[in-house]
Amino acid sequence: MGEMSNRKSEALVKTEHLSVRFPLKRESPFSKRRYVNAVSDVSIEIFKGEAFALVGESGCGKTTLADATLGFAAPSAGEVFFNGEKLDIRNKKRLKQQRRSMQKIFQDPASSMNPRFTVARAVAEPLMIRRELGEKRILSKTAEAIESVGLSSGDLDRFVSEFSGGQQQRIAIARALVSGAEYIVCDEPVSALDVSVHAQILNLLMDIQKERGITYMFISHNLASVRKFADRLAIMYLGRIVEYGDAEKVFANPMHPYTRMLIDSVLSLDGGKTAINAPPEANEALQEEQGLYASNDGGCGFRRRCPIGRSECESIKCSLEKVESDHYTECPYAANR
Ligand SMILES: Nc1ncnc2c1ncn2[C@@H]1O[C@H](COP(=O)(O)OP(=O)(O)O)[C@@H](O)[C@H]1O
Ligand SMILES: [Mg+2]
Repeated sequence: MGEMSNRKSEALVKTEHLSVRFPLKRESPFSKRRYVNAVSDVSIEIFKGEAFALVGESGCGKTTLADATLGFAAPSAGEVFFNGEKLDIRNKKRLKQQRRSMQKIFQDPASSMNPRFTVARAVAEPLMIRRELGEKRILSKTAEAIESVGLSSGDLDRFVSEFSGGQQQRIAIARALVSGAEYIVCDEPVSALDVSVHAQILNLLMDIQKERGITYMFISHNLASVRKFADRLAIMYLGRIVEYGDAEKVFANPMHPYTRMLIDSVLSLDGGKTAINAPPEANEALQEEQGLYASNDGGCGFRRRCPIGRSECESIKCSLEKVESDHYTECPYAANR
């Protein structure tokens, strides 16, 4: 318990009423500019050393929210804090320093690393860009990083393209580790990989976290895959956080109808593939809905799919309300469903 309250004492990443929007294509130069509200009024805290999971279906805004915490997406409203200090996208110099403590692991390792690089070059690149360490130190840090992900220093001279998808993701993880980042965003790190290696990569990420006390934002469209190791989580729908807090509490007592839907589909025979992996058409529908949402028609964004929706939901102003300590939901009707 002492350890826990320690862990919870300090937020490494914090957003306050954060919104990020993107302009939609205009139908004509005379029509009004419309926006997709990719992230709407999100206030979350990620505590030092925790694995924070961000879960929701494709297109709901997960990557945009994560990118905003890395200073890669500009807020249209609200703020992001890192280690208590505001991330100011316009202050390029300061942002560059702050980014030294941050890394991102992408869904597809092949697209985030040049396949024609040697492993050594791919892993060492963040250090080479900094130009602070001598060649010897870079070599030893690179070897140490590659060994910590279960490959060998003998692999350093081979080309990235010679490795399997799972091994390439290991190389990408080594690359993220080499610079000693405190905060690592893992953006669906296994969803492009063969199912047979999912558990290995997830276990590797967990082990690394235990050893190094790294703070993760772990993004997934699959609630089941985060159950094993998320300390805290946020469930996202149409740009908003609909449920948030301690992972055990959310799994034990899911409040929002959408969270329940995700949990039920995880328990169903297909492991939740149909409900959560939205097909491209559904994504378009989602965008359309996001467009509607952006036009500010009010009400709960989930109401059209909600099994417990009622007429009040058309005009309700949603905000996260406390259910119990470190457990919040947007749905005011969840408790007496
Ligand atoms: N650079 C961009 N320009 C325009 N729209 C974008 C951009 N990035 C994301 N979007 C839109 O914002 C919404 C959220 O996208 P994203 O954050 O990628 O969702 P997720 O990671 O949950 O799949 C989607 O509707 C997407 O089409
Ligand atoms: Mg994404």
